[in-house]
Amino acid sequence: MNIPVFKPLIDKKTIKAAVKSLEVGWLGMGKSVDEFEKKIKSICKLRNKYVVSVNTGYSAIHTALILMNIKKGDEVITPAFNNIADLQSIISVGGRIVFADIDKSLCLDPLKLEKLITKKTKAIIVCDYGMGIANHNQIKLIANKYKLRVLHDAAHSFGSVYKKKMIGSFSDIAMFSFDPVKTITAIDGGAIIVNTKKERDLAHKIRLMGMGQSSNVMYKNKRAWTYDVETHGYRYHLANLHAAIGISQINDFRLIKKTRINTVKYFNKNIENNPIFEKPILNTKIVPFIYHLRVKNNLREKFMKYLSQNGIDTGIHWQPGNKFKLFKKLKSDHLTETNKVANEIVTIPLHSNMKLQDQKKITKTINSFFKINIKKFNQH
Ligand SMILES: Cc1ncc(COP(=O)(O)O)c(C=O)c1O
Repeated sequence: MNIPVFKPLIDKKTIKAAVKSLEVGWLGMGKSVDEFEKKIKSICKLRNKYVVSVNTGYSAIHTALILMNIKKGDEVITPAFNNIADLQSIISVGGRIVFADIDKSLCLDPLKLEKLITKKTKAIIVCDYGMGIANHNQIKLIANKYKLRVLHDAAHSFGSVYKKKMIGSFSDIAMFSFDPVKTITAIDGGAIIVNTKKERDLAHKIRLMGMGQSSNVMYKNKRAWTYDVETHGYRYHLANLHAAIGISQINDFRLIKKTRINTVKYFNKNIENNPIFEKPILNTKIVPFIYHLRVKNNLREKFMKYLSQNGIDTGIHWQPGNKFKLFKKLKSDHLTETNKVANEIVTIPLHSNMKLQDQKKITKTINSFFKINIKKFNQH
């Protein structure tokens, strides 16, 4: 079997936590969900913030856009180089996607942001990518100038630090994903981080189909039999089993963080510098989610095939939004960096607690691809 791109760290403790949760027999939302939210708050040092967990990252983004009051016809600026969840969530609230370009960090380029703002612009979704963090301070200045709300998609940067502040602690609204491949997984799950009790209470209702007082009752492994339905909502709540797995993952966070950083250091040291690949820069305050290379000179497909034939899977994060049929009509002629990056980007395997043997195999194979192809590169 090839070395997979993603491999969650499911150790005996996580399996035990899952079994125990099943044995308790309260399968829906309950005590573990409350505990998971408290764990997120504590590990991410989100003092004065409110954490509301939901069943996916997509649900988190959708809920956040509802809290931001994004309505039909409102424009939301977000990078085209993005996860589909951000784009679909904008459509889900009736908003209009405005594609932004990225800069060298592979995150939204603040220098190109202002000219995208119109009278209809209501919000910006800023997304951290891989092991890069967006230029949040600069983006916030622009957002403040035009009174726009900012949703911080921190699906890739859980537990990381930006300018001495924990991710999630400085945004209007931030979101995390705990999907099967994320640094911390709950098999599937997500969370939003909000500033006010009012937003928390509304998010509690939205995730339980508008039911008023249910969240607090369910936190005790109980059901509220009488309640009011106060707002339009969705079935977005997290189940105890997922939360129990998430808690166990957070308990392993130190190991997860340390081993991911060490593997990235190993790759950066041992993948030889050469003109074909551009390696990512490791900011040590990051808990790396994916390790990407930019493969130049139209060699990406060949590179991916070579690695696959040598027992290593690779991935593409991402195909940009402007390439998809659904978004073809959106303005995209300004996306110069996006289109360049989209043709070069490749994800190589990065796991928590990755075996040294796998790290060695990956670097050796990449270096041998370089040796075979450098001659051809020089001929161009
Ligand atoms: C940047 C980003 N945002 C949002 C999501 C959506 O999260 P989920 O898969 O939990 O719905 C993902 C998922 O890969 C992502 O990478």
